[in-house]
Amino acid sequence: MRNAVPQEIEITKINESKISQVDFENLAFGKVFTDHMFICDYVNGEWQTPKIVPYGPLTLDPSARVFHYGQAVFEGMKAYKDDQGDTFLFRPDENFKRINKSAERLAMPEFPEEYFFDGLNTLLKLDDQWIKSGFGNSLYIRPFVIATQPSVSASEADEYRFMIICSPAQSYYSGDVSVLVAEKFSRSASGGFGYAKAAGNYAGQFYPTKLAKEQGYQQIIWTDSNTHEYVEEAGTMNVFFRINDTLLTAPVSDRILDGITRKSLIALAEKQGYNVEVRPIKVSEVVDAFNNGSLKEIFGAGTAAVVSPVKAFGYKGEHYELEKQENSYASYFKKSLMDIQYNKAEDSFGWRT
Ligand code: COI
Repeated sequence: MRNAVPQEIEITKINESKISQVDFENLAFGKVFTDHMFICDYVNGEWQTPKIVPYGPLTLDPSARVFHYGQAVFEGMKAYKDDQGDTFLFRPDENFKRINKSAERLAMPEFPEEYFFDGLNTLLKLDDQWIKSGFGNSLYIRPFVIATQPSVSASEADEYRFMIICSPAQSYYSGDVSVLVAEKFSRSASGGFGYAKAAGNYAGQFYPTKLAKEQGYQQIIWTDSNTHEYVEEAGTMNVFFRINDTLLTAPVSDRILDGITRKSLIALAEKQGYNVEVRPIKVSEVVDAFNNGSLKEIFGAGTAAVVSPVKAFGYKGEHYELEKQENSYASYFKKSLMDIQYNKAEDSFGWRT
């Protein structure tokens, strides 16, 4: 790979931090951003000198391909601060690998590992005061790549911009969520790019989710595009079902995102000795389990959503309310994961950096 040796980052610091204007007790997800951002442009087949500059608007040509063809990929990761004031990332190598996997699927150039981690670490050190300690507080990190080449020709660009922006975060959902199981819409189709964190995968979900919201649901559980009989994932998270004491989740495929929280929960469950089944799950199996009382829990797992219990689901005009469980798997996983993320666990599985 070219650019294997990172060039020194050019840093322009802000004159005055805007941190004093932020109410850290009442953060809406993804609305407030830290003082600085990381930028690296790809021109003439090479990643150029990386820069950290004050956070602010970009100037792009209106014909930049990202605006016309959505050639854009992103990641979601978080930094956590423990009670001693040390900052940790959770499995950042997985995010790095995945953004390049997504980029490859969208015919974008690979971003060099050294640039990624050098940029990220320098940015986090500069904006360290934005990372608050305490369970539930974190800094949501959004690396992304966009096609900047000016031209509406419908082919891959040869100019790109890689960026990292950061936003202090608390929870993504306030409280448990209700989900609607899709009867006709899908997140993606076989042979498509559902496994990629491509911007368009999320834009395509907004309309069905808007319809679901009109019915009182916050999210959709997508079903497969061929039959709509099998559950896949939800809008911002992978989905788990607990039937009796067995934990079930759908296998990843070219349609389903290989979630880092998802695979972490599977590892935690296996370590705990839970029975885990990763296999196709029919919606009818979930409905039958609800009707015979064996469906104990549904929950989502994702970086932003962490572990989000589902309190109810809708399907084919019926509404199913789940009973609250004592000692739920969701709360066990949430606590185990957060203990690792906030440096309180004895065994961190090597996931904390
Ligand atoms: C994340 O969990 O980081 C995601 O990508 C979800 C995002 C669409 C809010």
